[in-house]
Amino acid sequence: MGIELFDIEDAAEGDLRSVHGVMLAAQAVDRPDEVPVTFEALVGSMRTPPAGFGPRRYWVARRDGGIVAVAFVNLPDAENSHLALVTITVHPDLRRNGIGTAFLRDLLPRLEGRTVVEGWEITSGGAGEHWATSVGFRVVNTMVLQLLPVAEVDRTTWDVPVPAGYRVEDWAGAAPDAMLESFARARNALRDAPFGEIDFQAPLWTADRVREAEADLRARGVEQRVAVAVHEESGDVVGVTEVEVRPHRPHWASQRETSVLHAHRGHGLGRCVKAHMARRLTADRPDIDRFYTTTSADNTHMIRVNEAIGYRTVRTQVSVKQDVVVLTLGGTQ
Ligand SMILES: CC(C)(COP(=O)(O)OP(=O)(O)OC[C@H]1O[C@@H](n2cnc3c(N)ncnc32)[C@H](O)[C@@H]1OP(=O)(O)O)[C@@H](O)C(=O)NCCC(=O)NCCS
Repeated sequence: MGIELFDIEDAAEGDLRSVHGVMLAAQAVDRPDEVPVTFEALVGSMRTPPAGFGPRRYWVARRDGGIVAVAFVNLPDAENSHLALVTITVHPDLRRNGIGTAFLRDLLPRLEGRTVVEGWEITSGGAGEHWATSVGFRVVNTMVLQLLPVAEVDRTTWDVPVPAGYRVEDWAGAAPDAMLESFARARNALRDAPFGEIDFQAPLWTADRVREAEADLRARGVEQRVAVAVHEESGDVVGVTEVEVRPHRPHWASQRETSVLHAHRGHGLGRCVKAHMARRLTADRPDIDRFYTTTSADNTHMIRVNEAIGYRTVRTQVSVKQDVVVLTLGGTQ
């Protein structure tokens, strides 16, 4: 078995179909609660991976010419440039034959100098977690995946009054200039959220980085929606929630960061901006049929906020990490 870099833009149709075959079969075993991924949605998501995690490489393992396993490798930048975010998926019919382990061994020297590997969104208690610990990874965080099915929700739970002294504003795509600086500051409150012992750090936002990230999302064809709480007295943004709608899944809203500055917590601003976002996005885009989000399992406050507006927990996932050098030695440290 050999591994090779896989060019998602240029790949032959047959190879793309094989990659889809591996991912679809794995999804049925590892995440049976999910809507089966179509060929178009998979290739679309591989060509337009989520923003904020650096370039993504794909590697495949072939046996007798056929693709039997696929790795997604993200190489994040700035404060995370020591990290490789890796997910290896082996076709379920071929598991427990050493393919996953051999793939990892071959991949480690090809991680472009990264010194730590993290794996995220691994179904808790499933094959991925068992395998990861057996090859030397440590479980460093537990997250819950929550889903809000729009058609089933009681929308009166979205009628959340704005606390006195604040107002809510929203936009699509680009933050208004007047709010840019305080928006960047408020986003940094996410750095207080618990993410266990993962190394990955949320970006330290500045006005320039916000504009760069907005441009990156536009270039990827992602619709970014933001709702903010503004403190009337100072005029500053003090609470933020952000949703992304990606082009290959136009009916799904990915609820990403939500943060409230420390001095303004305890007034219900988190629930208020999230409820506002749900109202606003579904009014503008009645074709959105679900929101989904992941939150650390010990972030009980955020989980409760989500449940209050109609999210339900569908799965628990773990994140794992280990130094490349330890994994190379076979995880013996
Ligand atoms: C995780 C995954 C890549 C493992 O692939 P694999 O080819 O079956 O793994 P290996 O054969 O190399 O397994 C090596 C060892 O891991 C452990 N292991 C693997 N799967 C296991 C399972 N389902 N239950 C318990 N232990 C398991 C065993 O110790 C195994 O050795 P053994 O078969 O001699 O007992 C595969 O299960 C998969 O694609 N899972 C879904 C995606 C995922 O979660 N990836 C991990 C994140 S990076």
